[in-house]
Amino acid sequence: MMSSIKISPSILSADILNLGDEVTSVAQSGADGLHVDVMDGRYVPNITYGPNLVAALRRVTDLPLDVHLMITPAQPHLKAFAQAGASIITIHPDADVHTHRLLGEIRSYGVKAGVALNPGVPASSIEPLLPFIDLILIMTVNPGFGGQSYISEMTDKIRQVRRLIDHSGRDIELEVDGGINAETAKQAIEAGATALVAGAAIFATKDNDYAATIAQLRGDRP
Ligand code: DX5
Ligand code: ZN
Repeated sequence: MMSSIKISPSILSADILNLGDEVTSVAQSGADGLHVDVMDGRYVPNITYGPNLVAALRRVTDLPLDVHLMITPAQPHLKAFAQAGASIITIHPDADVHTHRLLGEIRSYGVKAGVALNPGVPASSIEPLLPFIDLILIMTVNPGFGGQSYISEMTDKIRQVRRLIDHSGRDIELEVDGGINAETAKQAIEAGATALVAGAAIFATKDNDYAATIAQLRGDRP
């Protein structure tokens, strides 16, 4: 039976000078999307890339592009990311003033709207936004860098958000981001995640056997 857990490799940990090959490799290895971490050196301490990279990725792959905006403010850049070919745009509510307005703007471009919850943000804060979102991104590290350790106390928050989604009856993806490896993937899936982001666990695989790592994260039996 096919597992329904989606794996979205974060290109943050990919070999940036061979990004085209990396994208082809994960696509052939069963990735369900590509997670693009956009950082501005202000909302988070790190700086990465902008809409031009999303457009370049769009030209070489049909995979959904899962764009995670860690920038403040995000609103002035939403249209550019949508036009570049983002499939999902996820925002952090504390990076702008009017979360609900931004979610409406994202959807108005025909793009799925996501909301990220930092480790210090309670599960209940998502409740009023459920009718307006397609994805919730639970941060299991503090955003800014790849390769950090999963904060195990967040597993309970995944469970709480799972209950909120189920109670709402809405079709909302529950994605978990940060420190996902074979062991923590199991915890997140058990708690109700339907999608997992993984950077270091995939791209830092010693033998570059992305297919095996992706299958393992998804919980597929060998
Ligand atoms: C952290 C990013 C994550 C990160 C995940 O700010 O949002 O997407 O790339 O990387 P790993 O899987 O290495 O923790
Ligand atoms: Zn991310």
